[in-house]
Amino acid sequence: MTGAAVRGAAVRTALPGPQSKLLLDEQDAVESAARTYPRHTPIAIAGGDGAYLRDADGNLFLDFLSGAGVLALGHNHPELIAAARDQLGVSGHSLDFPTAVRADFQRRLIAMLPEPMRARTRIHHCGPTGADAIDAAVKLCKTHTGRGDVIAFHGGFHGSTQSTIAITGLRGSKEHLHNLLPGVSFFPYSYCYRCPLGLAPDRCELNCTQYLENILADPNGGVRKPAAVVMELVQGEGGVIPARPEFARRIREITREHGIPLIVDEVQTGCGRTGTWFAFEQFGITPDVVVASKALGGGHPAAVILYDESLDGWAPGAHTGTFRGNQLAFAAGAALMRIADRDGLLAGVRETGQYLREGLLALAARYPFLGEVRGLGLMLGVELTAAGEWTAAEVARRIRTAALHRGLLFELAGRDDCVARFLPPLNLSRAEATEALDLFGAAVTDIAAEIVTAEKGTPAP
Ligand SMILES: Cc1ncc(COP(=O)(O)O)c(C=O)c1O
Repeated sequence: MTGAAVRGAAVRTALPGPQSKLLLDEQDAVESAARTYPRHTPIAIAGGDGAYLRDADGNLFLDFLSGAGVLALGHNHPELIAAARDQLGVSGHSLDFPTAVRADFQRRLIAMLPEPMRARTRIHHCGPTGADAIDAAVKLCKTHTGRGDVIAFHGGFHGSTQSTIAITGLRGSKEHLHNLLPGVSFFPYSYCYRCPLGLAPDRCELNCTQYLENILADPNGGVRKPAAVVMELVQGEGGVIPARPEFARRIREITREHGIPLIVDEVQTGCGRTGTWFAFEQFGITPDVVVASKALGGGHPAAVILYDESLDGWAPGAHTGTFRGNQLAFAAGAALMRIADRDGLLAGVRETGQYLREGLLALAARYPFLGEVRGLGLMLGVELTAAGEWTAAEVARRIRTAALHRGLLFELAGRDDCVARFLPPLNLSRAEATEALDLFGAAVTDIAAEIVTAEKGTPAP
């Protein structure tokens, strides 16, 4: 999409509109039953400009999905397009041969790390998906430790390959898949809104980490010392659940005490999403392996693991993949990092995130079925609760549909998909944030009008 900046969501047709319907029907006839988004968001995409996405019928949506977090600067950012376009005429693909654009990307990426990590960090480029990079990280740690098991957390999500499904909490995704990666144990995450140990924060002494500590120390605990612990600092698909800072710190201490490499999965939280380049910076921990993808390539496929040089004992060819070395992603990703520095992007993420959070909290104070507002930076979620006759999942689905019809696009996450999850562009303006709050608020009001709350037995305000 080119031309003047578009401002203001506008949905002028029923959804799907006629042109979208043609493309959706064709898709339905050809594509796999495993596809997801268009089932609940019935649009075909024509283009986009910044925070706005345009469907095939000319409807404009404020896009708080951002390609599941890939589009850090929204749709068609001119400088990211220019960087990729300029590179296209030079070379597009390099396997793992060195190139100037790759070196520039790497220099910038290392510079984004906290200073003490920079000199000790090695980069491995992976097949350009988060799942492939997680797989590589686990392989690296297995090779280094000579151990085979992995510890992961309830609610975690790490991808859709068979090894990453194995370390993902979502039970549904493994129900019909036998023989996944063996040796995976799950431990409780600090999901305090629904504490897995049945505690409330005021009655909790970090019992979840205590439990992990006890099991690792217990000769009868049944869990072998693993090759790695894999952790998200804000669980994304799990329902936008930030780790409690003391939880993350204690996990780091325990893993260090036991000589277990800690892999932090920053596939979703990375590249500025939470208001620092990587989320781990806000938790005061130094991971052994950092996994990044999604926004890393400025909208183009890229995935890396960044790890401490002491782990670098794997053999040449230990993790290959034809599509490593995407030169367009290096060029656009380097441009993203340059823009982040130049424009104070991370401070903007923190400020706009705070503004959105306050708006959502104000809304939650009015509607009891908005259970908890949480997140970091511009990775925000609202956990919906059951209301009247409806389950939390039904409330969430209805709000998503009402918002879509008003022009706000977002995804659901969490247990039973009962969390409205917002991943707007990182350069979202204050006006766009206000518009999103208005649209979400209007959708919530639409649904409230249909709900008889259990508490009051009368229609919600
Ligand atoms: C935290 C996290 N890890 C890993 C992945 C997998 O990334 P990909 O879909 O690129 O394989 C995702 C994808 O959403 C993710 O959110």
